[in-house]
Amino acid sequence: MTSAPLASSAATKVPTRPRAFQRCVNAACRAEYPVDQVLISCPNCHELLDVAYEWPRASIPTFDLFDQRSLTRGTRHAAGSMHATDSALDFSGVWRFRDLFPFFRDPRQIVTIGEGRTNLQHAEPLGRTVGLDTASGGALYLQYEGFNPSGSFKDNGMSAGFTHARMVGARRVACASTGNTSASLAMYASLAGVQAYVFIGDGRIAFGKLSQALEYGAITLQVAGDFDACLARVREIAETMPQAGVYLMNSVNPFRLEGQKSIMLRVLEGLDWQAPDWIVVPGGNLGNCSAFAKVFLELHALGLINKIPRLAVIQAKGSRTLDRIVNDLGVSWTPRHELASLRTSGPVVAPDLSGTYDIARVKAEYARMDAANERAKTVATAIEINRPVNLSKALRALHAMNGVVRSVDDHCIIEHKALVGRMGFGCEPASAASVAGARVLIKEGVIRPHETVACILTGHVLKDPDCTVEYHTGVSSKSGKSARVPGAPRGDVHIPLGCLANRPIPVIDDLHAILRAMGVDAG
Ligand code: F0G
Repeated sequence: MTSAPLASSAATKVPTRPRAFQRCVNAACRAEYPVDQVLISCPNCHELLDVAYEWPRASIPTFDLFDQRSLTRGTRHAAGSMHATDSALDFSGVWRFRDLFPFFRDPRQIVTIGEGRTNLQHAEPLGRTVGLDTASGGALYLQYEGFNPSGSFKDNGMSAGFTHARMVGARRVACASTGNTSASLAMYASLAGVQAYVFIGDGRIAFGKLSQALEYGAITLQVAGDFDACLARVREIAETMPQAGVYLMNSVNPFRLEGQKSIMLRVLEGLDWQAPDWIVVPGGNLGNCSAFAKVFLELHALGLINKIPRLAVIQAKGSRTLDRIVNDLGVSWTPRHELASLRTSGPVVAPDLSGTYDIARVKAEYARMDAANERAKTVATAIEINRPVNLSKALRALHAMNGVVRSVDDHCIIEHKALVGRMGFGCEPASAASVAGARVLIKEGVIRPHETVACILTGHVLKDPDCTVEYHTGVSSKSGKSARVPGAPRGDVHIPLGCLANRPIPVIDDLHAILRAMGVDAG
């Protein structure tokens, strides 16, 4: 799978279509590879790859174009079809922004099932609860990615990953997963007619997600080990055994992240193309935050936005690798080009987002974690990850978006999950880390009460029903025993444990008893 890097293109004649290629994020390498080469990391230096573009100035889209696409009419074909129609592409909350990730050769080959039709909800009471001053302009928005076809944000990236897989003729796709990636991969694979393999850690997957992978027909391997072990194994197969022909769909795949850029485009769209002050997102493998910063850098280079929001990445206390690397060890990103110099005046806009960081420090930290046998553990199983694969891109994101990292404990996550649910729609535990983290940052004075904050709710409330039922009933669905730990530590912000618990009320089958239990006085 290795090949010599392409020579950097010095365009003499201005092309009419954007040029897309892969480029290593390491400023000391910056090797370039063709877009249809299947790579997991840079063959030259093993760092991550970006999908990079050279946009001729004449082909830079406008926000008006995206607005107009909501009016496109005509027949819609879903995934599996080789003839995606304009109406199907414009219906998708990912592909209606396709000009901002033009890596595909033929738009008819795009794999879409109508993903990304998610909404930005103004959550005023919740905003007040977490400490925003709504009277002075403070506003909390919730970006509900749980409304995607498989119930999580992963579909944004998966449709882009599958589009690339189709471009290169992949017949087998695989991923390691804490659950949502596997559900999304299995759904797209069954619709696109390719064989799916999912590697999941032993016992650390919420049932809603496992049930999806099984139902959609993926070959599901429950590997004795955690997520990191699964990822190492599936990566080994995809990277070193080309004869197996396995295309890797984890977020280390740069094409997947191109689709996840659309989440930010919808946040902007939901605010009439005005950036909020803050984007708050849970961090696991750190693909989302990486994709978010990339699109803001690109939009800025293209001259489409002037303001880049600040980023808060929220981890679980039991899974805080990025938090430790950034806040305890002080590792940060040094870009090759600062923001202002990405915006050029030439006929082609070609942002180079490469940079460097102290990789030796990170390797030493991983060695320390291994020696201490430190393993991630959190109720938010979706983000229970030791070694986030997108670490370098996440460091870039923190630099580009003047970002911060925090972690919140499991009690805090679960209380905020209940709070989000009480305000409507709901989310899974990992998603609620964003709201919990926003509250912590408001309390610290980092997010100011008059600011606008968009929290990304990454997964649907039905993904982890056991967790929800345990919270409300106080009884473990697995053991039938009390699920509350007496005297357990409170969350980072002081909310009594189980304060929103909404227990089912046992009642005999008698009209008056039922009315009494309903609190209804029927005379
Ligand atoms: N929220 C949910 C619901 C997730 O499923 C994940 C990741 C994240 C947040 C973290 O996102 O990796 O971009 O930082 N889930 C992956 C999976 C790891 O396998 O489903 P990230």
